[in-house]
Amino acid sequence: MEKIPQHVSIIMDGNGRWAKARGLDRVKGHIEGVESVRACLEAAAEDGVKYLSVYAFSEENWNRPQDEVIALMELMMKAMKQELNTFIDNNIRFMVLGNRARLSEGLNQTIDDMMERTAGNTRCTLILFLSYSGKWDILQAMKKAAAELTPEQLQAMELPDFDRYLVTAGIPDPDLLIRTSGELRISNYLLWQSAYTEFYFTDILWPDFRKPQFREALAEYARRDRRYGKVK
Ligand code: IPE
Ligand code: IPE
Ligand code: MG
Repeated sequence: MEKIPQHVSIIMDGNGRWAKARGLDRVKGHIEGVESVRACLEAAAEDGVKYLSVYAFSEENWNRPQDEVIALMELMMKAMKQELNTFIDNNIRFMVLGNRARLSEGLNQTIDDMMERTAGNTRCTLILFLSYSGKWDILQAMKKAAAELTPEQLQAMELPDFDRYLVTAGIPDPDLLIRTSGELRISNYLLWQSAYTEFYFTDILWPDFRKPQFREALAEYARRDRRYGKVK
């Protein structure tokens, strides 16, 4: 394929509806969704995508029923630990970005350990956005910048300088953003970083989104004409 996006991001949606349609508990949908992350990461690494990021849990998702929140956190902990060796064997760097202060100590320890142990890997970076929201990111960036810079430096700030304070500092903006399950909204995801991202919406529910569906999205991306406001 000619135009491979450098960074593909996914709003993984529809796990609950996938489970409900089968008369299963919502958590079963989340478990099946982990398989889709695995499949998409494999396709991304094979096809030369350098960054795959997935929205795993939003700041708003803390407002879900407590038992679902707990189940999701346990599932993420388990899935991470299970994948560590695969990441090491396949040269995958793993990162978690978001409001880490809201995560449990145990989960934070696992995340730190996994990030450290895969930090030198170069084939593809998998980023899990956990307890993340776009508005939170912009606000924490503003606070960090204000604490670090003099009023003169703040006044002189240019757009690329601001990028350094977002949790995504050093990571290229997503070229392609996929949202599954037919919802046509951004749900407070990468607001700043998706300023010129190509959007791809599909009705497919996340647990059904596997390698062929991922590659179909890449093919659609290759057909897009990115103009960035210019005339081509
Ligand atoms: C996405 O699936 C996973 C998370 C948001 C954690 P949902 O749980 O939102 O599934 P639906 O939208 O209820 O089908
Ligand atoms: C968005 O999905 C967040 C994640 C995929 C983690 P939601 O299912 O929470 O989004 P809304 O509530 O339908 O906007
Ligand atoms: Mg949803």
